[in-house]
Amino acid sequence: MRDILPPESARWRRFVQVFGDVVEAAGYGQVITPLLEDLGVFTRIGEATDVVTKEMYDFVDKGQRHIALRPEFTASVCRAFVEHNPVTPWKVWYAGSNFRYEKPQRGRYRQFDQVGIEVLGSDDPTLDVEVIALGWEFYRRLGLRQVTVRLNSLGEPADRADYMQALAAYFAAHVDQLSEQSQETLTKNPLRVLDSKRRQDAALIAGAPIIADFYSAEAADHFAAVQAGLGDLHVPFVLDPGLVRGLDYYRRTTFEYQGGTLDSAQNALGGGGRYDGLVEALGGKPTSAIGFALGLDRTLLACDDEGVFAAQSAAPDVFVVDTTGGIQALRATFELRGAGISAERAYDGRSMKSQMKAADRSAATLAVIIGSDEVEAGTVVIRPLRAGSAADGGAQFSVHRTDLVAQVRNALDGAATKQSNP
Ligand code: HAM
Repeated sequence: MRDILPPESARWRRFVQVFGDVVEAAGYGQVITPLLEDLGVFTRIGEATDVVTKEMYDFVDKGQRHIALRPEFTASVCRAFVEHNPVTPWKVWYAGSNFRYEKPQRGRYRQFDQVGIEVLGSDDPTLDVEVIALGWEFYRRLGLRQVTVRLNSLGEPADRADYMQALAAYFAAHVDQLSEQSQETLTKNPLRVLDSKRRQDAALIAGAPIIADFYSAEAADHFAAVQAGLGDLHVPFVLDPGLVRGLDYYRRTTFEYQGGTLDSAQNALGGGGRYDGLVEALGGKPTSAIGFALGLDRTLLACDDEGVFAAQSAAPDVFVVDTTGGIQALRATFELRGAGISAERAYDGRSMKSQMKAADRSAATLAVIIGSDEVEAGTVVIRPLRAGSAADGGAQFSVHRTDLVAQVRNALDGAATKQSNP
């Protein structure tokens, strides 16, 4: 778990803001679910997934309830859907922290953030297209160019069951060639063996039966429609029959957004798929559903690698320098902020020189200077700090203290025009 300090924290907030803008324009409303749920909500993710068996932060609370910190949002969203019975299709988005007891490394943390969307109550393959394309659009909006959409379908539940059987038989026949870890995985869920990144397993995985040979006509049609729709929207994708995803609830369409710059163990920037059985598993009516979650921590690492969506220090519009003790700066900054102008000041009665240095460092557009002469005359001095440097500033001028806000606003408008038409 990590501390996120400024200016990085502002980048996190901007990330969520951009995501919200993209998905709200597509009709998704934000849902805020509790950080804690009854453990049973999350065990529905699948008893054979590491997330449930090894990584859950679960405990018994003072009321003897067995609860857990959420390891993801999808199960919570389905629980909320069952509880509130909203009109379908229910289109929601979310942002927040999740907890998984993983082995921490670059791009993998025990507390990490996701943004995501879920749609409950529609089976339409063009919805799958919309969902995948929205994630793609968001990555474009951040400026990322090295993201690949990997796409697969796990078929209908019966197709998937037949496939699992064939896969289990195949791996069982060659079990001595599998790594020890994959042998253990095989006893729990043969599909997850396909997820192994160990070199020892690579050859066997390459020769394994593929899911596409097990699709029913219905699953094949649905998947074909998804691919056609993505083509129609010019969203490039790569078919990946080995894409099984780490959670057990998936059926039919599954997909991942893979970053081009990260190590293979952490290059899934986000992923999702259909999970048509989960609402029922949580006590609701059978409900088709699809969604994705994007890892914020990991996506920002990809942004660093690609040199896009950089953290920005927020420079104030104005830095108020007060050589009379500080009360003038306190009043002026509050007045300016009240008028929607961001304003900073120095503390501890520092010298004029030290305050001007602080003004430079803050990268403010203007300095407002108040000394004892100004207080006596009922004026203030406005000094443009061009390129954030007092030394390079244009001509300073004196204005009536009562005109502070209007004059600062004028000067800021002037500075903005100059910047756009130098
Ligand atoms: P997931 O693949 O487990 O899917 O997580 C989605 C993304 O969250 C990953 O691609 C990764 O970027 C990020 N992530 C996961 N674990 C960590 C970690 N320990 N540290 C940093 N980032 C991490 C889900 O969570 C599903 N709920 C997605 C979904 C939504 N499927 C349908 N709807």
